[in-house]
Amino acid sequence: MKTVYVGMSADIIHPGHLNIINEAKKLGKVIVGVLTDEAIASYKRLPYLNYEQRSIIVAAIKGVDEVVPQTTLDYVHNMEKYKPDYVVHGDDWKEGVQKETRQKVIETLKQWGGKVVDIPYTQGISSTILNNKIAEIGTTPDMRLKRLRRLIEAKPIVRILESHSGLTGLIIEKTVVEVNGEKREFDGMWASSLTDSTSKGKPDIEAVDITTRLHNLNDTLECTTKPVIFDGDTGGKIEHFVFTVRTLERLGISAVIIEDKIGLKKNSLFGTDVIQKQDTIEGFCEKISAGKRAQITNDFMIIARIESFIAGKGLDDAMQRALAYINAGADGIMIHSKDKSGEDVKEFCIELKKVHPSIPIVLVPTTYNYITEDEMINWGVSIVIYANHMLRSAYPAMLNTAKTILINGRSYETNDLCMPIKDILELIPGTK
Ligand code: SPV
Ligand code: MG
Repeated sequence: MKTVYVGMSADIIHPGHLNIINEAKKLGKVIVGVLTDEAIASYKRLPYLNYEQRSIIVAAIKGVDEVVPQTTLDYVHNMEKYKPDYVVHGDDWKEGVQKETRQKVIETLKQWGGKVVDIPYTQGISSTILNNKIAEIGTTPDMRLKRLRRLIEAKPIVRILESHSGLTGLIIEKTVVEVNGEKREFDGMWASSLTDSTSKGKPDIEAVDITTRLHNLNDTLECTTKPVIFDGDTGGKIEHFVFTVRTLERLGISAVIIEDKIGLKKNSLFGTDVIQKQDTIEGFCEKISAGKRAQITNDFMIIARIESFIAGKGLDDAMQRALAYINAGADGIMIHSKDKSGEDVKEFCIELKKVHPSIPIVLVPTTYNYITEDEMINWGVSIVIYANHMLRSAYPAMLNTAKTILINGRSYETNDLCMPIKDILELIPGTK
């Protein structure tokens, strides 16, 4: 009996998959290598179903004899383990991102006389088409909420961008670039108190109340499916914070980040230029614990944000707080700084990882933004938040347009500054 290996993501099973399994079955015993979440996330969007769910489905398909995990996009590890006589795949992998993978499989199989069998691609149906259809349907609060933890598990770093409107949400939802064959996109959205307030013409001092901010966030939730991390400012009074936690969970928000400040909150990037008071360790721990007790799902995350560096204190204070907050139940730690070198946060990350290797660390590299994602991965960072860039890039563009109209007494000179009318009409599906 020959052994046949088929690798697949199997997120949305369609007749194309069944055809490949049928063809594989004709050649011998079929082992399906189901790609793990990590393997899929290394080159494209995280699948809708997790590895366990996908492997249960594949195991139930007629013709499949065995299901095994494939932990990398690269087949070599499983090839060497199972030494198949054939690897069967849709012929679409002859081109594009998987071309190199196929070549490696051919080389590896040669060692024991194995062969690649390319099956003609089933026309008219593909995971990409189905993916787009599913994205149009949207998501449920439950699925959206759970997604952040899955992303943290599956990706070397989770990439989050600030959103303050439906439109910025759509940019984050849909923008994809290809870098060296890898499809890169943002993993989710940051509901920033700074940009939420600024876009309303209000200061970032908790003057825009939670109800108003959530009302605003609803626009984003309606037209996107990616997870949201909510900037909860100080979290307010403990008695109020417990309600906020439940409201956020009900909306399908994945995490809230609260900062260890009390009194009138001012934006952290002022540092010590304004009066900002840090909470006591006991006081903030009590808030974290109350929030954790209030939540209903196991998936919602309360992330504690440490403002020691912002307040001009050192590593010892930051570490002492991190250990206490984790002990109080924090699901992650955000360390903030306005230092341009990034040295303070780097030192903190390395120290914290020594004691708590698996606690997710969140960074907001606004001032130290020459640091790359790869460097942050090396420090053990799980989430990077680009906290204000959509608003900061939109504002100068709008200001320039306004001035150009004033200077010229007409709008003709803005033609090159604006997107064409045709494009704005076609931007949102259903406008026509
Ligand atoms: C925000 O985006 O509102 C933040 C990050 O809290 S920062 O502005 O750097 O304080
Ligand atoms: Mg904020």
